[in-house]
Amino acid sequence: MMNKIQIADKEFELLLENDQISKKTRLIAIQLEVDYESRCPVFIGVLNGSFIFMADLLKEINISCEVGFIKVSSYSGTESSGQVKDIFGLPDNLHNRDVILVEDIVDTGLTLTHILKAVRKQKPASVAICSLLLKPAALKAPIEELEYVGFEIGNEFVVGYGLDYDGLGRNLKDIYRAKTVANP
Ligand code: IMP
Repeated sequence: MMNKIQIADKEFELLLENDQISKKTRLIAIQLEVDYESRCPVFIGVLNGSFIFMADLLKEINISCEVGFIKVSSYSGTESSGQVKDIFGLPDNLHNRDVILVEDIVDTGLTLTHILKAVRKQKPASVAICSLLLKPAALKAPIEELEYVGFEIGNEFVVGYGLDYDGLGRNLKDIYRAKTVANP
């Protein structure tokens, strides 16, 4: 593991080591197992960023469950455009199901608000959100479904463990933060 890395034009420094992330993931998994025992929830990962967290989390979950992924149009660079255009691949059989949306990071919360609206239309039994990271200072409005959060971080741009900077860095094992202030 390196303390500093360069991705394209930006310098990043280590924020969370893979070991810390794994420990937190195991804790969240235990919590989910207790809360959803014998309810057979549907985990829905939000691509692309959630792919590593989703895999690591689900490997720690030992209750009966279903797994799926959705994709939403994302934004590029280090700033949210707040534009979420489409949701692809949302299952249409969520009525009366216990749905758990899995995110890599909640920044403004606009992406989730949009997804939640589409999921609620199907009248599921329950909806909860599980996000590895949360930037509380960036959140535009409170999201009451946000029940499982790994780490709260500052209003800074992060990369690695599924998160990208202009498409790069998703494959890094650890999470790094931009050395310059991304969202002043
Ligand atoms: P939101 O709609 O502003 O909450 O943004 C959510 C999405 O933006 C996440 O699923 C990420 O794909 C992306 N995102 C937000 N903050 C960061 C970051 O610091 N690094 C990389 N991607 C981010």
